[in-house]
Amino acid sequence: MNVLIILGHPDNNSFNHALAETCITQIQNNGHSVYFHDLYKEQFNPLLGECNNSTNELEIAEDIKNHYFDLINSDGIIIIHPNWWGQPPAIVKGWIDRVLIPDVAYQFVKDERGEDFPKGLLKAKIGLVLNTSNTSKDIEDKLYKDPLETIWEKRIFNFCGVSQFERRNFRVVKDSNMSQRLNWLAEVRLLMDSYFPKA
Ligand SMILES: Cc1cc2nc3c(=O)[nH]c(=O)nc-3n(C[C@H](O)[C@H](O)[C@H](O)COP(=O)(O)O)c2cc1C
Repeated sequence: MNVLIILGHPDNNSFNHALAETCITQIQNNGHSVYFHDLYKEQFNPLLGECNNSTNELEIAEDIKNHYFDLINSDGIIIIHPNWWGQPPAIVKGWIDRVLIPDVAYQFVKDERGEDFPKGLLKAKIGLVLNTSNTSKDIEDKLYKDPLETIWEKRIFNFCGVSQFERRNFRVVKDSNMSQRLNWLAEVRLLMDSYFPKA
């Protein structure tokens, strides 16, 4: 399988980077290919320009062509980012805006009443999201709910035709010790084995 991994975190020493490295190693050890994009490292431009909304592949902006080809060739997509204000960091939001383009990721078709509804077009059928945050589950549930679950499952992956979805939220990162983090990384290895088993 080909697996696309998108990482959105500015600090190379972050736990998010450890999550990404763990995914890459485990998936490759299992005999699959990884397309990896560290958005900050490649200084991904998150601003949607005039030609980015094109449905014509030739008109897709030069700087996202490699993202586009990786996306359409992937069987699985893994998104890794911290919770920032209950949302993905702006650089990840820009990746969504610019790379998940109409007629590639989705299209609108008419239902029997003539109303538009979205049809997902992505080849990938597995969508995994790994998040980190500093809020306990109790407080999150009571005060803020969990916008990231809805954004990634309903608004992005299901919308684009990715039927299998799973998200893990690792918290509270700021209070975690080395042993806790190693346990989380072991959990991620098992998650990779379950979706991308030894070929
Ligand atoms: C701009 C910004 C906004 C943040 N917003 C939230 C938030 O809404 N909820 C939360 O639990 N943590 C929030 N955090 C904390 C991050 O989620 C936390 O630092 C990160 O998940 C820790 O992972 P890391 O060690 O890989 O950086 C925020 C951090 C930043 C920098």
